[in-house]
Amino acid sequence: MAKTRILTGITTTGTPHLGNYVGAIRPAIEASQSADNLSFYFLANYHALIKCQDPEMVHRSTTEIAATWLALGLNTDNVVFYRQSDVPEITELSWMLTCMAAKGLMNRAHAYKAAVAANQEAGEDPDYGVTMGLYSYPVLMAADILMFNANKVPVGKDQIQHVEMARDIAARFNHHYGEHFTLPEAVVDDKVAVLQGLDGRKMSKSYGNTIPLFLTEKQLKKHINKIKTNLLEPGEPKDPDTSTVFQIWQAFASEEQTAEMRQAFLDGIAWGEAKKQLFELVNGELSEARERYNELMANPGFIEEKLQEGAEKARSFSAPLMTKCRKAVGLRPIG
Ligand code: TRP
Repeated sequence: MAKTRILTGITTTGTPHLGNYVGAIRPAIEASQSADNLSFYFLANYHALIKCQDPEMVHRSTTEIAATWLALGLNTDNVVFYRQSDVPEITELSWMLTCMAAKGLMNRAHAYKAAVAANQEAGEDPDYGVTMGLYSYPVLMAADILMFNANKVPVGKDQIQHVEMARDIAARFNHHYGEHFTLPEAVVDDKVAVLQGLDGRKMSKSYGNTIPLFLTEKQLKKHINKIKTNLLEPGEPKDPDTSTVFQIWQAFASEEQTAEMRQAFLDGIAWGEAKKQLFELVNGELSEARERYNELMANPGFIEEKLQEGAEKARSFSAPLMTKCRKAVGLRPIG
């Protein structure tokens, strides 16, 4: 039986944090270990250019994200792990799909609509600051997905619409030029935790409330100590279900440890003690990977080598499909 193709992209802006780890990286690495799946994970550095025009930041983030996935045990023998810009067929396909994508469909994209709404609120021109990159971003994402005939695309809720747009564009291409593309499906895993950040809102770099994944022990401790709590004293019962400390605990702990901590909350564990235990738990899970991460960051040539190998594997899928697409749309040699 053909393996299920799972594909996901990681935009290379920012430094990976605990929320990324729990919500995306850990489940992706787990899924890649199943023999039923063929996973494609890539560094979406063309997508990064939409949001970030600081070249050093894009480059540093690409390095950090690659090192993070490798340090956490991604096995590049079993997965196709690559950098988007190393696969030129993706941008080539993106243009063909642009010519199949209805403008009206793009008008409905959430990211674009949010930008327009913010402009209107500020009394600006509706398209102020909106680049064609932001506007057509769902088409590039469709190319990412369709290029590898992905069956399943694990994403957060905010990205479901884009996967649906990819289906729509694929169906139109197939209808017009013949069956070339698999219709992808978005997969949103409700069991995967969406982690809260230091202030209790969703952990996100746009809120500035994250705990970066590979801090030194001292910094990790410091960040955990900054998690917002209430003023309940030691001995006073605390509500685990509204506590960020408990929520992060749960994302790292076994069921048994979770039950014990729940009881400790009800018994009035001191915030300082709960945070100390949380540090021990998180640090325990990450300390080996942190060492590997630091080694990788000190040896960027090795990371580059892995990405080049990944690009070669990726292109063994993308190049033949692109040849077919070129023919299908009428771009072929004369005579
Ligand atoms: N747009 C996605 C995000 O911001 C990242 C991404 C780019 C992606 N291309 C993709 C995700 C293809 C899944 C499939 O999270």
